[in-house]
Amino acid sequence: MTKVEFLKELAKGWFGNSQQHSIHAEMLADRGFKALAEKIAAEAEEEWNEAKEVNKRLIELGETPEVAISDYPVIKDVKEMLEYDCKESATALPAMSQALALFADDYVSANMIQKFIVDEQEHYNWVRAHLNLIKEIGYENYLIEQIG
Ligand SMILES: [Fe+2]
Repeated sequence: MTKVEFLKELAKGWFGNSQQHSIHAEMLADRGFKALAEKIAAEAEEEWNEAKEVNKRLIELGETPEVAISDYPVIKDVKEMLEYDCKESATALPAMSQALALFADDYVSANMIQKFIVDEQEHYNWVRAHLNLIKEIGYENYLIEQIG
């Protein structure tokens, strides 16, 4: 994969994941889980902005970004939603770190990706902590906490 191909895939992925989070946030709010809905909505916005940042960088590099979005499932169950996110982050983190090797000659893009990795690690920690809460306090108690 070339660095331009990687950046295009990254934008596609962020746009798709952002839209998934946005739909999940609306569904959670609709069911009354205000606290969790707010957190997921913030994640949707962060990833949308990251996708835009990638497209801006592609333009700076003289490339033409694509109107493209990766497929993501819509998940209704809260625990399954968190588990999906956890798996996604666990895959994305090493993939982004490995891709940094493509950017040895491009500090600006590398720096941008490093920032994404740090944000993703934070999200991963948050999701793991919440899955742990479900285990420790029970699913029902966890859901009560998410009413906000
Ligand atoms: Fe995400």
